[in-house]
Order: sequence, then C-alpha cells, then structure tokens
Amino acid sequence: MHVHDALTTRRTVHHYREDAVPAEVIRRAVEAAILAPNHRMTQPWRFVLLGRTAREPLVARSAELRAGPPAPPEVIERIRGKIVGPPHCLVVGCVRSDDDFRMGEDRSAVACAIQNLSLSLHADGVASKWSTGAITRDPAAYAAAGLDPAEVEIMGFVWIGFADQVPEAPARKPLAEVFTERE
Ligand SMILES: Cc1cc2nc3c(=O)[nH]c(=O)nc-3n(C[C@H](O)[C@H](O)[C@H](O)COP(=O)(O)O)c2cc1C
Repeated sequence: MHVHDALTTRRTVHHYREDAVPAEVIRRAVEAAILAPNHRMTQPWRFVLLGRTAREPLVARSAELRAGPPAPPEVIERIRGKIVGPPHCLVVGCVRSDDDFRMGEDRSAVACAIQNLSLSLHADGVASKWSTGAITRDPAAYAAAGLDPAEVEIMGFVWIGFADQVPEAPARKPLAEVFTERE
C-alpha cells in the first residue's frame, strides 16, 4: 500500500473480530514502530503484548473505575467485551526521564512510533485503536504489563485485530483553518 493511501484510509476501529492476527504481522508493526524518529536516539518506547489471560484482571478494575465499587454485573459484562473481546492489546510505554523537556520529546517520539505501528498494521489489513481510558493509567495496567510506574509511563493501549466494523472518517478542520504560509 502506498504510504499516502495508508494514512488517508487508516481508521480508529472500535469493534473487532475474535480471531487472532498472525504473530509476524504484529512483529512487523513493532519493527515499524521502532523506526520512528527520536531525539538523541533515546528510543524511549516499550511494548508489552497482552493476551486475553493477562487482560482478565483489568475487567473488574475497569468496571469499578467506570461504575463502582461495586460495579453492577451488567457493567462488568460490557467491560469484559471491551477488554477481552479484541484478540490483542499492546501496552505502549515511554521510559521516564527526570528532565521535563526530554520527557516531552520522548512522549512525542512514542506517539510517532504508535502511528508507524498503526499504519504498518493497516497496510497488512489489520485494524487498531489507541486508547487512553482511566484503566490505562491505573496500577492494574502496570501490574498486567509487568511495568514499573517509576520507570515507564504507559501512554496507552493499542487494541489490535481484524475490523468487524470500520467507522466513517471523522471530519477534519479545513486546511485553511490550520495551515498558513508566509513569504
Ligand atoms: C493520544 C490518543 C488517545 C486516544 N484515546 C482514545 C480513547 O481512549 N478512546 C477512543 O475511542 N479513541 C481514542 N483515540 C483515537 C481518536 O479518538 C481517533 O484517532 C480520532 O477520533 C480520529 O479518528 P481516526 O483515528 O479514525 O482518524 C485516541 C487517539 C490519540 C492520538
């Protein structure tokens, strides 16, 4: 797929089929992610792929954050679908820096890596979604991923799978609102 076609047709997908994505497709996407630009070659990204078993403990906690405690059983079931429904969840982290400016640059580099990852998946016919809901910042997420919050900041979960439904492209502001030229 031409890079321009990939970036214009990629969508954030909310509903996935249950079947797994081939491991080599995910691996290729992570290889694409780590090609992202990063200042001083800090390579601040960390990736942890969570299977459904590793995600199970997040269900109760996410439901509690949403509607509890105690979360009603129907909320728990709805959240279970969201958390263990998609076949893959990639936790993406940024190694912490004591320097605020460096940390900002490193977060930017990780964002570039996530876009590379999404475009690589999309070129292989696989959908994704970057999410930053409360559960992604909760100690339960760090425990599930085996990440020490003092060392790594989770920048979100990237849900990965074959799309069940692809949404329409959300409208963008017209170029004239965001782009100017000066001689
Ligand atoms: C930092 C970041 C966090 C996001 N978090 C969420 C999220 O928690 N839930 C969600 O549905 N989408 C999330 N998104 C996806 C955006 O909603 C999506 O990119 C936007 O609606 C544009 O749609 P598109 O990606 O299909 O162009 C996030 C995107 C970014 C860059």
